[in-house]
Amino acid sequence: MCPWFESKWGSVRLSERLSILHPSITLEIDALGKKLKQEGKPVISFGAGELDFSPPETVLTAAKVAIDDVVNSRYSPTAGLYELRAKIAERVNNTQQLNGTPAEVSAEQVIVTNGGKQAIFEILAAILNPDDEIILLGPSWLTYYAVAEYHGAKVINIPGTAQNSYKVTPEELAKTISEKTRAVIINSPCNPTGAVYSIDELRRIGEVLLNTDVWIIADEIYESLIYGEIASEKNTAPHILEALPELAEQTILVNGVSKSYAMTGWRVGYLVAPFWVAVEIQKLQGHLTSNINNIAQKAALAALETSSEYFDNARKTLQERRNLMVSLLGQIRLAGDAEKGVSFNIPDGAFYILVNIENLLNVPLSGEKLVVKDAVSLAKLLLEKTLVAVVPMDSFKIANHIRFSYALSKEDITEGINRIIKFIGEQ
Ligand SMILES: Cc1ncc(COP(=O)(O)O)c(C=O)c1O
Repeated sequence: MCPWFESKWGSVRLSERLSILHPSITLEIDALGKKLKQEGKPVISFGAGELDFSPPETVLTAAKVAIDDVVNSRYSPTAGLYELRAKIAERVNNTQQLNGTPAEVSAEQVIVTNGGKQAIFEILAAILNPDDEIILLGPSWLTYYAVAEYHGAKVINIPGTAQNSYKVTPEELAKTISEKTRAVIINSPCNPTGAVYSIDELRRIGEVLLNTDVWIIADEIYESLIYGEIASEKNTAPHILEALPELAEQTILVNGVSKSYAMTGWRVGYLVAPFWVAVEIQKLQGHLTSNINNIAQKAALAALETSSEYFDNARKTLQERRNLMVSLLGQIRLAGDAEKGVSFNIPDGAFYILVNIENLLNVPLSGEKLVVKDAVSLAKLLLEKTLVAVVPMDSFKIANHIRFSYALSKEDITEGINRIIKFIGEQ
């Protein structure tokens, strides 16, 4: 159905495709939280999809230097500054050891994009046709749905199970693949679950896809944010191409500096594709944006040259926050039934915890005996009554769950979750 709008000139018809995109409930709650904050209320938000750290100092210096160089005021190559593309290729080759030997990605396979988001958009534009199917593994980021559907494809989600940290098994994947399957997206570490696939799990998933005409899109944007034993020697999450190098010709990597280097606002992402696909995507980007901002590219180059100490600190801080979250969330208990609270898996990566709130629905909450029937109503109630903002997962197409980000200070985490514990458990 074409969307119609009433303007002062009469009814105006817009593209049919636009009606596929819906305003996000997440943004609605975020806006409400910001409004309350502006009114001076002490809102604590667990909604953030970005780190609260400063980017490395070298990034800020590189950007300042770049501003003064007039060459950066001009157009540059569509696919990105060559030195940045070369650095990205070098990074992929160093972190993704294929059976012990570095991968052999070249700079020509890299396209620098306006954030990981533009990379996803361009990849799906390049590979999908109407009625194709694309498979998402476990709870998945809402943008995959929006962009795939925008390109006329059908999204098939394999939900996974809480027992397996929502990681999809090769058997589940094999059952779901059909003749229409054009692509599978693997996002590890995952937004919203924080789950990280081990090298062995990736190998077994990869084996299902090997020798098929299915594309693998590996979204590795949280690769450096991992905790515990799952980290590879290079301190990144395991990669599918490390697990099965033979998949290189059918795999497109997505990454960027947004999440790992606390640089969401700089809008630098990238994709790494087989050369001939990169050439096609470059044509699209030429008409869409041309090159991305040169100053941001120089800043991204400095980010990729940052010493590993930056990550060691970031990981340590995030792991402490994660542990604090886990211990506090475990203390949420219903007043009427102290056995019942929320349930969740302990994340191995990214900075999110996906929390099952089924036990809090359709029962009287807090001393005020309030009853909510779904995650959106619970999120609105928490914001209204405790000034704590969380993200209901309905827009990620997951019922009865909310997502907490732990990209906020320990003080705020403690205060925020304690408010929830008190509210839910009030007699
Ligand atoms: C799984 C995933 N991939 C990609 C992105 C894109 O990040 P950006 O466009 O900010 O680089 C995000 C952002 O939230 C994400 O969660």
